[in-house]
Amino acid sequence: MRLFSPSKINLFFRVLQKRNDGYHEIVSLFQAIDFFDFLEFKFSDEDRLTCTDSTLACDSTNLIYQAREIFRSQFPLPPVHIHLIKQIPIQSGLGGGSGNAATTLWGLNRLLKGIASEEQLRDMGAQLGSDVAFFFSSGTAYCTGRGEKIDSVMPPDQDVFSFSGWIAKPVFGLSTPLVYKNTFVDGLPCRDPLLALRSFSTDSPLYFNDLEISSFQLEPRLIAIKEQLLQQFKTVVMTGSGTAFFCLHPFKEVQPIKKLVLHPFSSLRRDPAGWYCASVACSATLEGYTQVKK
Ligand code: C5P
Repeated sequence: MRLFSPSKINLFFRVLQKRNDGYHEIVSLFQAIDFFDFLEFKFSDEDRLTCTDSTLACDSTNLIYQAREIFRSQFPLPPVHIHLIKQIPIQSGLGGGSGNAATTLWGLNRLLKGIASEEQLRDMGAQLGSDVAFFFSSGTAYCTGRGEKIDSVMPPDQDVFSFSGWIAKPVFGLSTPLVYKNTFVDGLPCRDPLLALRSFSTDSPLYFNDLEISSFQLEPRLIAIKEQLLQQFKTVVMTGSGTAFFCLHPFKEVQPIKKLVLHPFSSLRRDPAGWYCASVACSATLEGYTQVKK
């Protein structure tokens, strides 16, 4: 069985406060997108985890491995071989690893003919990471807590969250814990998340990300990259803790940018009973100078 493992962007991202447990209280509008990995599942003689990207650890530090363990701690799962076809860049803020974990839980449950409820899958997901539960939403969700409390957004107008754009990924990444650690919550603009949510039912949606300040301090190269992107797109916002940006409303045909990979994407929705899939695999990538040289 082969499943599509999606990623996400944060249409807005508000950091409210630092909690006593070390996490931050956040409010964010998450959107699933069709920048994807694939995960393959089959019963096997022993548990195996393999990946097309040799730089990625396939041991107990991998969220797929952890998802299989947590699933087995609750349900009688025979040995399984899981193979990851990796395309989503790591340390990008696209939630690729979280999407892998959610897809693993969903896939293992399908192998066991739906033994677990979606609520159980979502709870297991929330234990694995703050972003995992989101992938059990409808594809657009208002997320609170540390990100694990999800409310699927059912837009009054179906087209509101059907859009496409470009993901711009610099060659370097950023560590999520570091970006949060460097966030000075009291210095952030006091934007009202509910107003931000409502703005998506109007002609002027409010796109922003509170983590940009911290990420730009840690990686000042991001400032120039955003400026360059703003010459081609009306909207350019970092997703999650970065370093990828989502770019909407190009002024004209999109041109390659040095040392940046530009990847087209479309927003995704999920039917309640099924998993994510895309009608058209988006494989065309505009590669900048550094990538072409490799
Ligand atoms: O939950 P997850 O494992 O993805 O979080 C990784 C790290 O990011 C946490 O250990 C924490 O340092 C930081 N984080 C945070 N507040 C959140 C989510 C993550 O401080 N809401």
